[in-house]
Amino acid sequence: MDRIAISGGAQLEGVIPISGAKNSAIKLMAASLLTDEPLRLTNMPRLADTRFLARLLERLGVEVVEQDGPEGPETVLHAPEIVSAIAPYDLVRQMRASFNVLGPLVARTGQAKVSLPGGCTIGARPVDLHLEALRALGATIDLHEGYVYAQAPRGLTGAEIAFPFVSVGATEHAMLAAVLAKGETVLSNAACEPELADLADCLNAMGAKVSGAGTPIVRIQGVDRLHGTDHAVMPDRIETGTFALAAAMTGGEVRLTGTRSELIDTLLDKMIEAGVEVRRHEDGLTVKRNGSRLRAVEVTTDPYPGFATDLQAQFMALMTLAEGESVIRETIFENRFMHAPELMRLGADISVSGGEARVRGVPALDGAPVMATDLRASVSLVIAGLAARGETLVSRVYHLDRGFERLEEKLGGCGAKVRRIPGNGEVEA
Ligand code: EPZ
Repeated sequence: MDRIAISGGAQLEGVIPISGAKNSAIKLMAASLLTDEPLRLTNMPRLADTRFLARLLERLGVEVVEQDGPEGPETVLHAPEIVSAIAPYDLVRQMRASFNVLGPLVARTGQAKVSLPGGCTIGARPVDLHLEALRALGATIDLHEGYVYAQAPRGLTGAEIAFPFVSVGATEHAMLAAVLAKGETVLSNAACEPELADLADCLNAMGAKVSGAGTPIVRIQGVDRLHGTDHAVMPDRIETGTFALAAAMTGGEVRLTGTRSELIDTLLDKMIEAGVEVRRHEDGLTVKRNGSRLRAVEVTTDPYPGFATDLQAQFMALMTLAEGESVIRETIFENRFMHAPELMRLGADISVSGGEARVRGVPALDGAPVMATDLRASVSLVIAGLAARGETLVSRVYHLDRGFERLEEKLGGCGAKVRRIPGNGEVEA
């Protein structure tokens, strides 16, 4: 398997273009199941996760064409008919969000059989809220041998769905199913992540009637059919935040373009508190840090607009070099500190107890071999490696390829010494 070698110490200077959001793109792709007309998604990131989902959608009957359009990479998805309503385990386990094809399949065909996604390194990640939402919309749900069998032969019916806690995936899933239900659906305690608003914008352009997406109450007036449209995927706020943190970590000055600074307001407030300079522009932001030492600050992850759990590992990397003790609390996932012991291999001083990590800043990190455990954890090791003395070798980089487009190229363009060492097919333990 490929590894990434980083020779640390170079400051980052330059411009990094931000790609379309992975976590929006994969839900938008699933929306193609809802219509027999083509859905053209522009500003598409090219990632392992979008490829995994494309493979599954093709199996269900969607023609997927990736092309370079006038505005850059785009994907046209066209499902004239659903040829299979079965999403098998071998495809769903590769990318959990594939599970979200269940709702659109039931909404369009009246039935579906979709594998349960299983656990994941950051926690158990059940899908009970997804299933409750589909039941509320009138689907019969049975579980057998690791599969969900859902049936709604006479179609779905609008319902009031009050989520007991905030779930991004369950909110998106309910929205994807309810757009074709009869009557009105009201989602309360809905997730407010900007990707929800992006999905609603696309669904509305397809003829749906969704209002309030991006707030805790979402109203969906069901329609009989949806049509095709063109939609530009929103910028990736986690990629934006990750490169902002990389620039802060190494020092230097980096301009991030093709994005929106307000998507990461909570992170930027914390970075400014830590001593990083931030300038906002119409098409992004510039992050700068001179030689002065960072200050430790506390963060607690929360649903949007709180501090994003997907930026927690990268922020922890930054705090390893700050002056003082930072307390980082993870409230979204039960096991999302796997990067801490790897950062400690680079010389970080971290202690973890339950959902809380205490990071006592050290003056410098030293390169070492480390292992990626999930997507965001692995990029935290890359940015720590950029600031460490000597060489850091990150293995299991297939995690990175799931969610960061052309990472080495983007960092390399700003002077980072990052290279990929192709694997020879061996499997890492
Ligand atoms: C999305 O996951 C993102 N994934 C995650 O990003 C992100 O960390 C997360 O939202 C929170 O922002 C995608 O968009 C593909 P949730 P999702 O449902 O939808 C529990 C990345 O690195 N829960 O909001 O799965 C769940 O276990 C990924 O890009 C239930 O108990 O997150 C978690 O503790 C990682 N039952 C909490 O809710 C359910 O039915 C929030 O999860 C659903 C969720």
